[in-house]
Amino acid sequence: MFDWMLPEKHAIAILKKDHDTVKALFDDFEKAENKATREKIIGQAVTALKIHAVVEEEIFYPAVGAHVGSQVMNEADEEHHVARVLIAELDRGVDNGHRDAKFTVLAESVRHHIREEESEMLPKAKALAIDFEALGQRILDRKKELLEDGIPSDGEHKMVAKANGRGDTPAKAAASHKSTGPRKAAAKVPAARARKASSHASH
Ligand SMILES: [Fe+2]
Repeated sequence: MFDWMLPEKHAIAILKKDHDTVKALFDDFEKAENKATREKIIGQAVTALKIHAVVEEEIFYPAVGAHVGSQVMNEADEEHHVARVLIAELDRGVDNGHRDAKFTVLAESVRHHIREEESEMLPKAKALAIDFEALGQRILDRKKELLEDGIPSDGEHKMVAKANGRGDTPAKAAASHKSTGPRKAAAKVPAARARKASSHASH
């Protein structure tokens, strides 16, 4: 359980405070009764998550990663990637009927990520003999800079922009494939991939 008493500027205390802020926004979203309120919360949470992800990736993860170990760090990195894809899709501002569902899945995924950070990564990181208050100050300085100068775009935004909404709603995409008929759809699968798929299926 995460219940350490840490100085306000300790890097872990800053990250924990960010976690509590976004979790409160996720709770508020569930209780929100109208679309305008939900949209306001989506905007606030997405900005908070982007800033939090940047400071973790640029400052905190490199400082503690070698000590925490690659398995935990790689999982955290993949979880950030998944969150960044959903955030990039939300940033398109298109409501294809999935917007609330997309944010709900983002919230579930981030809650899971926070649980893992707080139960595995942060307790291990805390044992490191580094100046966590100096690290915290770097995090605060970078946050200020991001708020003032803007948050840099990422590969996930480029990927989502390129897809231009395709693959955003897989069930809908599957329904349109189906309408072309099973033979035509099957013919679109490259032969090598189809062979691999059938050999996997036979095991
Ligand atoms: Fe994280």
